[in-house]
Amino acid sequence: MSFYITTPIYYVNDKPHLGHAYCTITADVLNRYHRLFGESTYFLTGVDEHGQKCAQAAKKRGLDPQTHCDDMAPRFVHAWEEMHVEYDQFFRTTSPLHKAAVQKALQQLFDCGDIYPDTYEGWYSVSEEIFYTEKDLVDGKSPTGKPVQKIAEKNYFFKMSKYQDQLIQYIEKNPQFIQPDSRRNEVLGFLKKPLGDLCISRPKSRLEWGIEIPFDKDYVTYVWFDALLNYATGVGYNQEGREQEFDTWWKQTGCTHLLGKDILTTHAVYWPTMLFALGVPLPKQLFAHGWILNKSQEKMSKSEGDVVNPLDMKDVVGVDGLRYWLVRDIHLGNDAPFAPDLVINRINTELANNLGNLLSRTTNLIHKYFDGRTPKGWLENDAATDQLRKIALEAPDKLRADIERMAPSYATEHVVQMLNEANRYLEEKAPWKLVKTDVAAAGKVLYAALDVVRIAGILLQPVMPVKAKELLDRLNCDKRDFDAAKIWGAIDEGTLVEKGDPLFPRIES
Ligand code: ME8
Ligand code: MG
Repeated sequence: MSFYITTPIYYVNDKPHLGHAYCTITADVLNRYHRLFGESTYFLTGVDEHGQKCAQAAKKRGLDPQTHCDDMAPRFVHAWEEMHVEYDQFFRTTSPLHKAAVQKALQQLFDCGDIYPDTYEGWYSVSEEIFYTEKDLVDGKSPTGKPVQKIAEKNYFFKMSKYQDQLIQYIEKNPQFIQPDSRRNEVLGFLKKPLGDLCISRPKSRLEWGIEIPFDKDYVTYVWFDALLNYATGVGYNQEGREQEFDTWWKQTGCTHLLGKDILTTHAVYWPTMLFALGVPLPKQLFAHGWILNKSQEKMSKSEGDVVNPLDMKDVVGVDGLRYWLVRDIHLGNDAPFAPDLVINRINTELANNLGNLLSRTTNLIHKYFDGRTPKGWLENDAATDQLRKIALEAPDKLRADIERMAPSYATEHVVQMLNEANRYLEEKAPWKLVKTDVAAAGKVLYAALDVVRIAGILLQPVMPVKAKELLDRLNCDKRDFDAAKIWGAIDEGTLVEKGDPLFPRIES
């Protein structure tokens, strides 16, 4: 099995905020899980550098667009590095390989007649980079309330309408293609109206910053046509010598696009029809996640200004704490209000209290009564132990099933339940009392609890790479793969465990 996941490529009109970090970290966590399951994986993220938005941002700073992009792209790289995001490639649409591959695609569609010139009159929203027709407008503004300006000019059009029926059939036949279900229905609803053709060019007189149209030097490519292709060109599409790579990731593996619901239409309508026309298979899945909301319960966004810098948040709750909250608290697909206290509460309850306490209690007692070396064996024919063992043995497969259905919040829930159970078990068995009457039995209770900590540590590596490593280091655990999490009783007798400071200190709000 293999897995290929992408995030949107973000506009470089500003530095990344918590919303971008949410999508990127979620993709990273999903990717790391698939790797933990033993699959070969590929994770592509990057930046969208062309188009009017970026040109305007550059102009505002008094920079030429390329200089602006060269300055902005590293800020995303740096943010992801700080967030412990491990991608395979950071994509930039200004890369020469991408430009050439996009031009090749444009030429192919022009040659077969799927791209044609026409004069266009319409309403253009600069902030959304989208053209609207008269009837799309609501109170003289775009359907989302953005200002529009009237424009009439010659442009090139992609025959998107030609593929409307094919697209509807494809979506109906492949219910997994657009997820969650509510989003698929939204797209099908949108497709009930006749589709127009897509304007895929901009005259240089109005916008110079883009990929030149290969068959008309007076035009550049519409930014979305250029940007969507990144998912394919990033793994070798239209590039000589990279056919094998494209075959492996795009055709054999199939791509999972993680994206925000704000850009569903471009991904679910423009992109598949482009691929139909180009004769390229569609991605495996488009998964639309919800929004991180700001204090006023609106989408956190650069243009609204009310944004949280993930790097600031990281300084308060730690990288792994932030990652944990994003993945654990937000059901993928739903919107999520953001407030520092929500993050802090979750960390205190589940990491400081639940996981952290279990770790420190077991290791402290093992130091106190067993010279810091693990006893071996668990209580046989004991209902409470059997129950704990059963839950622990079921957790890995349940977690995997939830990751495979793109539900990481539910996946981590299995780990939390297992830890809750282990804490209850310790309370019930009270090894700190038991040790006074039956040392061997107390040792067995601690062993069982410690094995749960080990399994939790392995299963949480994708979410909290640093903290999980530290935890497993403390247990002197060297087998950290998924198979090791499926084995009960894998700690050797006499293994030296460390006690150390609290792994997750409580955070004051
Ligand atoms: O749309 N909550 O780029 P963009 C959650 N360049 N996620 C959020 C968010 C929020 N408040 N704000 C942004 C573009 N995002 C195009 C994409 S892809 C071929 C081209 C995330 O910089 C979310 O994933 O506006 C959203 O879809 C994406 O950032 C949009 O980033
Ligand atoms: Mg946006």
